[in-house]
Parts: sequence; C-alpha cells; structure tokens
Amino acid sequence: MKKAKTLIIGAGAAGNVCAKKCVRLPDVFGNIHLASRTLSKCKDIQSSIDGPLDVSQIDADDSKAVTRLISDLGAEIVINLALPYQDLSIMDACLDAGAHYIDTANYEPKDEAKFCYKWQWDYQEKFKNAGLTALLGSGFDPGVTNVFCAYAQKHLFDEIHHIDIVDCNDGDHGHAFATNFNPEINIREVTQRGKYWENGKWIECDPLSISKLIDFPEVGQRKGYLMYHEELESLSKNIRGLKSIRFWMTFSDNYLTHLNVLENIGMTRIDPVNHQGTPIIPLEFLKTLLPDPSSLGRDYQGKTCIGCIFEGVKETQVKRLMIYNVCKHQDCYSDVQSQAISYTTGVPAMIGAKQLIEGQWKGKGVFNIEEFDPDPFMADLRLYGLPWEVVNL
Ligand SMILES: NC(=O)c1ccc[n+]([C@@H]2O[C@H](COP(=O)([O-])OP(=O)(O)OC[C@H]3O[C@@H](n4cnc5c(N)ncnc54)[C@H](OP(=O)(O)O)[C@@H]3O)[C@@H](O)[C@H]2O)c1
Repeated sequence: MKKAKTLIIGAGAAGNVCAKKCVRLPDVFGNIHLASRTLSKCKDIQSSIDGPLDVSQIDADDSKAVTRLISDLGAEIVINLALPYQDLSIMDACLDAGAHYIDTANYEPKDEAKFCYKWQWDYQEKFKNAGLTALLGSGFDPGVTNVFCAYAQKHLFDEIHHIDIVDCNDGDHGHAFATNFNPEINIREVTQRGKYWENGKWIECDPLSISKLIDFPEVGQRKGYLMYHEELESLSKNIRGLKSIRFWMTFSDNYLTHLNVLENIGMTRIDPVNHQGTPIIPLEFLKTLLPDPSSLGRDYQGKTCIGCIFEGVKETQVKRLMIYNVCKHQDCYSDVQSQAISYTTGVPAMIGAKQLIEGQWKGKGVFNIEEFDPDPFMADLRLYGLPWEVVNL
C-alpha cells in the first residue's frame, strides 16, 4: 500500500466532498487515502476525482484494523467522516498508531439516541500523553458555527451574553422525503427532546415544541424549531460571560408531516422488532428505503443559510449582530458534485485538518474547535468555498 499522510474514513456524502477538496491541495495533505465500509463507494469517488487518491475497505468499528491501516500508511492525520458510532474506535486507533484525529459529530452509542461529549472528553489525558491532537466537531454545526463564536469573542465583543445558532436549508431536492445527511443520524437527532442552556442550567422541552420566525439573510423569514445540538455543550463552557445559548433549525411542513407519520407508525424506533422471525431495527430499515444523501446534489435547487446571532457588550455598548454563510446547492454540485449540507460539512473538515497539518493549530489533548484561534480558519473558509458575512442587527 502506498504511503499516505492523510487518511479519510467514510466514503459517504461528506467524505466525497472532503476527499475532493483535500486532493486539490497536495502540498498540504500529501498522499491521500480514502477507506470506508463499502469499497465500491470509495472507488466511485476515486473515479470522479481530478487527482491521485488511494482507496481501501475498512470496518471502522474494528479499532485494531484501523490501527493497522494507519500504521501501514504512515498516516499523520485521520479525518473521520464515518458515523458518530465509530468515533471512539477511530480515536483508539489514532492513539495506538500515533495519528491526529478530526471528526464532525460527537460520539453516540448505537442502541441509545444520546450524544454528548463526555465519552470523547474522557480521552483528554490519553491524547495529551501521546502528544497528539483530537479536534472535535469540524463540520458546519458543530464546526463553523463554533468558530464564528470564537471569532465574535475575539474581535467583536468584550462579553457575549446570548447566542442563537440558526440553521436554514431553504433548498428543494425534489423528493417527497429525504434527509440531507445520514438518515439514521438525522432522524435520531430531530426526534430527541429539545434542550437549551440558560443561566447555567439546561432546560428541556418536548421535541420541536418551541418555534419562532427567524430572518435569514438572502432567504427571508422562516420558522425555526428549537433543538438540542451538541455544540451547545462545549460553547456553554468556552464562551465567557454567556447567559444563554440555543439552537434553531428550519423544517418544511412537508418534512415534519412525513416525520410525524413515520414516528407514529414506529418506523423511527431504534430497538429491534421481530419481523417474520428476524430482528430488525425499523430506523435502519427506513434508511435503506430513503434516498442516499450523496445522490441528492444533481437536482437540488436553492440555498442554505447557517449562522449565529449574538447579543453582548463591546465597550459598554449593547450589540446585536449575525455572522453567517449562504451556500447554493448548485454551486456545490458544480464544485464537487454534492449538495450544500454535505459541502458545508466536508469543506470545514478539510479546513480543520489543514490548520493542524500546517501548525496554525497546535495542542496536545482533545479540543473543541472554538478553543483554537479562529482567524486562520475564517480566512480559509473564504478561500475554499464558504464565504461569510457579518451584519449588525
Ligand atoms: N457537523 C456538521 O455540520 C455535520 C453535518 C452533517 C453530517 N455530519 C456528520 O458527518 C458524518 C457523515 O455524514 P454523511 O451525511 O456523509 O453520511 P453518509 O453519507 O451515510 O456517510 C457515512 C459513510 O460512513 C461509512 N461507514 C459507516 N459505518 C462504517 C464503518 N463501521 N466503517 C467504515 N465506514 C463506515 C458509510 O459506509 P456505507 O457506504 O457502507 O454505508 C458511509 O460511506 C456523520 O457523522 C454525520 O453526523 C456533520
């Protein structure tokens, strides 16, 4: 096997974007290797890419196999774009083989729809002692939104008091129902109880039971639903003076109607049910029926607008402003044959890895992305397809 500096695991929708973006920067990423559960998906990406990319099959649940792959390749960095279930086995392999680690979603056990950073934060001492960096949450949200917060804290406010992270996909993929990233992970996330952080406490609510109209630049007013999202956990610790932080996502009525029906009939269950003598997990079966998120790009119209609305104080003045990115689905398709949700995940994964390889971001241990200097990352967002704006509100 040819030596590779960069190993990407996961040949899905976001893995496709990240691999294509990395291959365009050989001076940074060196030889690149893409490994995933299904070899044919790696080969499809390989054949559609304009640069060298080696591929192989891997089961990333098998930590020892990942260790062997990293060691055989001599990889310095592993970009995990498989599923949250594989985070810990890939982190273990990075420690065993001596590679830096990056992901875009925090660990979640398969049999319980519960995500939190504790499992990965518990690796702090191990990464520190090994002299390695684990960079958590280098997608868009978490990821770019966290970096927007770090940038606002560094340059725009003395103290940030309130943050609303707002995520709108105003696109149309032409299907009756489809999810924009892995259907299993998406539906687990959307159907969980809502939660936000206020005055040092977590407040819970029923799923999607709180909503409000939000003004999205270049899109207009859309209804956003309050959800729990993993970046609230790290940002509530890392932004000084914070009094509240919430996360809002828009959904079309059509999406919500389908989701309600699927929930009501038990298709979103993650416990095994007996089907003609064979145990099956309804949500896994549903994933098999739904469109693959990587297949949506060609016909996707419209745009996404994702950002953060901040309220706080600068030189005793109260300030309210928004930092955001707008991304057009068709521009993403022209660039790397993807839709905007995978694009806004795969590009920041590449940019986060670039900061570690180039040494702009250095540190031994486990880090959430807002803990590093936001400036080089913000500059690279503009260079590699995710321009951002700041507006006073
Ligand atoms: N932070 C953000 O903004 C953000 C946004 C969207 C998504 N994400 C995260 O990005 C990740 C990828 O999402 P996606 O939409 O690209 O999903 P996807 O299209 O389903 O891709 C996941 C890929 O991982 C592979 N995989 C699954 N289990 C594996 C295993 N045990 N060993 C090796 N490979 C395995 C899958 O293989 P098969 O092809 O065999 O199924 C698939 O190719 C997810 O963790 C998701 O939560 C983050």
